[in-house]
Amino acid sequence: MKYLIRISHAHPHVAEIEMETFFKNYHLNWLTPMLCTVSCTSQMMDDIIQLSSCIKIVVENPIITNIENDEIVGLDDLIIPQSSRLVFNNFKVKITRVHKKINNFNTEKMIVNVARQVYSCHSHLEIDLTNPDVIFQVLYWGNNIALGWLYKEKEYREIAYREPKNWDYFGGGSMKSHLSRLLINLLYPLDATILDPFSGHGGFLREIAETGSYAIGIEVNKRIIFESRANSRKYGLDQNIGLIHGNSLYPPFRKSGIDKIVTDPPYARQTTTVGLNRDVLMEKWVKILDIGTTVVITTPTDMMIQNPDGWGIDIDVTDYVHKSLTRRVRRMIKLNERSK
Ligand SMILES: C[S@@+](CC[C@H](N)C(=O)[O-])C[C@H]1O[C@@H](n2cnc3c(N)ncnc32)[C@H](O)[C@@H]1O
Repeated sequence: MKYLIRISHAHPHVAEIEMETFFKNYHLNWLTPMLCTVSCTSQMMDDIIQLSSCIKIVVENPIITNIENDEIVGLDDLIIPQSSRLVFNNFKVKITRVHKKINNFNTEKMIVNVARQVYSCHSHLEIDLTNPDVIFQVLYWGNNIALGWLYKEKEYREIAYREPKNWDYFGGGSMKSHLSRLLINLLYPLDATILDPFSGHGGFLREIAETGSYAIGIEVNKRIIFESRANSRKYGLDQNIGLIHGNSLYPPFRKSGIDKIVTDPPYARQTTTVGLNRDVLMEKWVKILDIGTTVVITTPTDMMIQNPDGWGIDIDVTDYVHKSLTRRVRRMIKLNERSK
């Protein structure tokens, strides 16, 4: 099945990499920075929609064409694809502008136009604007237009409820749940267990647990361990999270068997670095990890692990967290003990 995916523009660089990571062995055709098409099975698409932190709208079997003088070019000649869900009686047409650019299109006229065409292919259908069985989705940007049956429109209410401002205990340095989830997804395919070695109040841990993996956190500050556990209990996720009170430079396991790590390490403003300079802490920490470990790490832009020896870096981007805070995101794989 061919799908059109519209992603959120909250973290454009990382979101694009999330999509590239999910569809690693598939061809993503980017129509704009927020829209792409891909062909895959519906099972795969369902799994990815479930995990994703950036997918907003998915349309199946999209038609991609142009608009001229409020008319959708050649719409009459286009065959509106039959939905895989044949059992429905009513529908509505929904129109969404993809990018901010203002067009003075007569969207009402476009909706009527499209609805008429859908009718001509499915004459048994009725229009139901309040509670339709299916939605015929129209997306437009510039003079371009994509249309087809809506496969899924994703809601992010649950993930928003896990934002740091809703936690009972919160240290000030915690990352938004959407971005945490995006970074975890850069480890896709996700392993059964994922580690955050500087776990703080547990933002990453709860998003890991939400994906269905087991999360292990290491935190040096005992008070924060208790607070993190209380936060996770509030969300009913504490059963899927293991917390270790300790120093990540001396983990209580040797060969851990955990080879996927996501972390937001301390950067010595609101958080402790157990007396070490934050960069020295990072340099020492990357040395103790096993070969084959993948780490997704986010740091302030002025804090860099300078091309650590023995690691390959395949993602290195900056993204806005909010207006005054830019974060660097890296995905690194430990290739060998010494040189690259
Ligand atoms: C930036 S915070 C992590 C924020 C976290 N992602 C959250 O959602 O709350 C970094 C945490 O690392 C902890 N930390 C500092 N040095 C550590 C070490 N050597 N081992 C384990 N934890 C450490 C700090 O106490 C702090 O809570």
